[in-house]
Amino acid sequence: MSTETTGLTVPGHIAIIMDGNGRWAQERGQFRLFGHKAGVQAVREVVETARSLGVRYLTLYAFSTENWRRPENEVSGLMALLQSYLKAELKTMLRNDIRLCCLGEVQQLPVEVGQVLEKTMAKTAHCSAMVLNLALSYGGRNELLRVARNLARECEQGTLHWADIDETLFTGRLYSAGQPDPDLLIRTGGEHRLSNFLLWQLSYAELYFTDTKWPDFRCQHLVAAIEAYNQRQRRFGKTGDQVQQPEPL
Ligand code: IPE
Ligand code: IPE
Ligand code: MG
Repeated sequence: MSTETTGLTVPGHIAIIMDGNGRWAQERGQFRLFGHKAGVQAVREVVETARSLGVRYLTLYAFSTENWRRPENEVSGLMALLQSYLKAELKTMLRNDIRLCCLGEVQQLPVEVGQVLEKTMAKTAHCSAMVLNLALSYGGRNELLRVARNLARECEQGTLHWADIDETLFTGRLYSAGQPDPDLLIRTGGEHRLSNFLLWQLSYAELYFTDTKWPDFRCQHLVAAIEAYNQRQRRFGKTGDQVQQPEPL
């Protein structure tokens, strides 16, 4: 599938809060981990679809700083799934020219997960068709605090002047430094909240919520979200008329 076949403007950067795995499993009388396992297939399909549609950046919220508070067996099950996903997907990422990046406190992850993550990021570092960001042990407030602390330290050391801190400098210190902000945020699973995701970067993203739970999310659901995005008028503070008419030279 391509932009030509769908006739849609494809967002350059799509971010997804993959929610609803636990409820999906419980509805089926299964343990929550069963839903997480089923969710991996949705990840595969969405990555493949995004890549073939020409999305340049895909950011998936896989584990939040708050998710460490879940029962230990769920956390360790999620870590094991992440490790096996990364091992299994390396070949596909290389074949599809996908670069893996990570947003979050990677050093908090179990050592063996950190190792496979580092290896996958290094081996795909040259890939350029699409960046796949996995937000792992990620929290938006945590990310902003980290930037604030680093900047404060530089000011204290005299290598930075407080008046030089502007949006560009700040953006360059985020986990997502060098990447454009998401154009479209999708949240599955029926909840209408950000849950501490990309608090800085989502300032002007179009928000799309669906009741579809993550394990059921497929190619057609992604296309439906992109279709909805195509109906939006992004004004960035301007009036509708200004956006429709090209700026005078
Ligand atoms: C999202 O699904 C996956 C993670 C947070 C890791 P949930 O596990 O939050 O599923 P629900 O929201 O409880 O159904
Ligand atoms: C957000 O989902 C985090 C991820 C999808 C990784 P949660 O299920 O943790 O969010 P809340 O707790 O319902 O807000
Ligand atoms: Mg949830």
